[in-house]
Amino acid sequence: MNPINPVVISTWYHGEKANEVAARVLSEKGSALDAVVAGAAVSEEDPDVMDVGYGGLPDEDGTVTLDAAVVGSDGRSGSVAGMEGVVHAAAVARKVMEETKHAMIVGEGAKRFAIKMGFEEKNLLSEEARHRWLEWKKDPEKPTAWLGEHSLHETLGIVAMDQSGDLAGACTTSGEAWKIHGRVGDSPIIGAGLYVDNGVGGAAATGAGKEIISVCGSFLIVEKMRGGMSPQEACEHTLRRIIDRHGGDADFQVGFVALRKDGETGAASIQRPFEFALFKNDENRLIKAKAILEKQTDFYKTYLRNG
Ligand code: GLY
Repeated sequence: MNPINPVVISTWYHGEKANEVAARVLSEKGSALDAVVAGAAVSEEDPDVMDVGYGGLPDEDGTVTLDAAVVGSDGRSGSVAGMEGVVHAAAVARKVMEETKHAMIVGEGAKRFAIKMGFEEKNLLSEEARHRWLEWKKDPEKPTAWLGEHSLHETLGIVAMDQSGDLAGACTTSGEAWKIHGRVGDSPIIGAGLYVDNGVGGAAATGAGKEIISVCGSFLIVEKMRGGMSPQEACEHTLRRIIDRHGGDADFQVGFVALRKDGETGAASIQRPFEFALFKNDENRLIKAKAILEKQTDFYKTYLRNG
C-alpha cells in the first residue's frame, strides 16, 4: 500500500511548533500516537506557553496542576488530571493507557505514578507565571473561578494521521488560570476535550472546559462526522449546540479542531480569535478559524497575538 500523506491539526499559535515536531515523527514513519505525544511535549516544555505544562498559570493557591489525555489508533485511551510536578502530562497519560488497566489517574496518585514510570519531578511554576499569580492576588477586582467569567486558556489539542492512515490525538493543559485547586477541565475527559475513532476521525477542544464537557464536545464532532457531516460542519454544529444552551449568545471561548479519516479537516470557535495549525501536503500553516459569533472576547486583550 502506498504511504498516506500525513496530516496534523492542532490548536493555537503554539500548535505550529508542535505540528513541526509531530510531522517529523510521521515523516520517519512514526505512529500517529508517537507524533501527537511528541508534539504535545513541545508546548509542555515551552515556558512562554502559559496554558500548558511548565510555565502554565497556576490555580488560586499558586500551584500548577496539569490535565492531559491521549487516544490511540486502537481506540484505547488514558489520562491524568490535577497532576503536579511533572512536565510531560500527555506522555504520562500514554503510560496510563499502556501500562495500567485504568482510564484516568488524578492528583498525587498521578504524580506518584509518573515518577514510578521514570518521569522527572520539576517545579512547574515559572518566574513569569508566579509574577502573574502575585499580580492577580493583589488585584481587588480580580476575576475568580468561583462564579465569575472564564479566564483565558490556550490548551493544546492535537490530532494526527500517520503514513498508514491511522489516527491518534492528545490534549494537554494547565487549565483555567486561578482555578479552584482540584478543578478538572475537559482536556483529560475522553469525549470532551479529545476523542478519536480510527474508523471515522478525531477532534480536540480548547476553551471553557465546563461548556465543552456539557455537550461531550469532541465525541459529538466525531459522531456527526460518522453521520456524514464534514469536519467543518461538525465543529460548527457542536459550537452552536453550546451557544444554544446559552440562549444564542456566549461570553466565553470554545474552539475545536477536527480531522476526518480521509484527511479532510475543520476548525471553528465561538468568538474571535482562534487560530489553528495545519500540517498537510508537507506544509505547516497557522490559520485563523471561522468564528460562529461576530465578536471578540475580552479575555484575550492582554494575550492577543494574532488579531
Ligand atoms: N479547556 C481546558 C480547560 O478548561 O481546562
